[in-house]
Amino acid sequence: MSRGLEPEPLAGLEEIPLYVPGKSGGGKKADKPVRLASNESPFGASPSVQAALAEAVARSHRYPPPGGAALATALSKHFGLPVERLVCGAGSDELIALLVRAYADTGDCVLHVQHGFIVHRLATLAVRGVPRAIGLEANRRMSLESLAALCKEQTPKVVFFANPENPLGTALDAQAVDEVLRIVPDDTLVVMDCAYSEYTDGTLWTHALKRAKERKNFVLLRTFSKIYGLAGLRIGWAYAPQRVAETLHRIRGVFNISLPAERAAIAALQDTDGWLEKSRLHNDKMRQLARTELESLSGLGVTLPPQDGGNFLLFDTPYEGKHIAAKLAEQGVYLRDLAAYDLLNSLRITLGTEEECAKALQTLRTVLEAQV
Ligand SMILES: Cc1ncc(COP(=O)(O)O)c(C=O)c1O
Repeated sequence: MSRGLEPEPLAGLEEIPLYVPGKSGGGKKADKPVRLASNESPFGASPSVQAALAEAVARSHRYPPPGGAALATALSKHFGLPVERLVCGAGSDELIALLVRAYADTGDCVLHVQHGFIVHRLATLAVRGVPRAIGLEANRRMSLESLAALCKEQTPKVVFFANPENPLGTALDAQAVDEVLRIVPDDTLVVMDCAYSEYTDGTLWTHALKRAKERKNFVLLRTFSKIYGLAGLRIGWAYAPQRVAETLHRIRGVFNISLPAERAAIAALQDTDGWLEKSRLHNDKMRQLARTELESLSGLGVTLPPQDGGNFLLFDTPYEGKHIAAKLAEQGVYLRDLAAYDLLNSLRITLGTEEECAKALQTLRTVLEAQV
């Protein structure tokens, strides 16, 4: 019989806001929904990846190699990186959580970008750290001045930024990344989250890799969730200084990467179907088309803040994003409102197929016309 006592979670954990994923159903006319709320690939996984996946599923009674060791070997060959410095995770989400767990304790300061990727903040709260937001410039890129001021006030344990940032879509160039590394103390971990790296021209990645090779405090994160179309399998990886990599290996789940996820990621890396190039070209085209279409809605109050890259576009309307997203959902169109990011009038559209984007933007036009 209950005596009214129950286990108490650690103080603060019950106040952590739950992550709210992009909606993908539930609207009144959701028979052929247009799901553009979660920055997923419009094409899914390539045929060779699907084949590798089917084969691995049939062998799912076997344990996978611990920690995605076979994938780490494939990544090492593919990118020419030492395998001892690679760590695979169940999505970059897991790696973000492990990094904070390893380097920040209760009460420690962790920096993230204002209106930037929310998981950087949530992971900090999970270890009862203190997240602080680095301010933005007028062009919505991270303010180096704000970063310097925060570092002066209290040495952070970890500094997170995504490049390009999500949902802002803005990116720091090579020179600005060097400035970040100069400003942040050498005993603070700097984590550059490169989830959208494949949608940029590659120079940012090459430069970051060069710096990461030289430094003991610079970690790069990549994911198979975006251009490779494997979001549902949960697979990402980190290129980290060797001591950081060793630490993450000690605290990760022993078999954190499932066999199907590992096999699919290895096949995706080999990319025998030219999937990456096809997806990249499609994304460039849709970015142009969607941008032009959104600009044509300026008479209805739509504005596009400056953005540098990614498989999505952020736009503002004169109305509450939540309200517009709900109206769109009634028509079976799912975009992401950004209230959780404290961007109350903004929405984010993932660049889907041409048909999906056309339907989403046409519906947006109708919804906005009905507001005025
Ligand atoms: C900046 C950023 N990092 C990481 C992720 C999550 O990636 P994963 O699916 O590998 O956990 C996302 C997904 O939206 C993202 O936008």
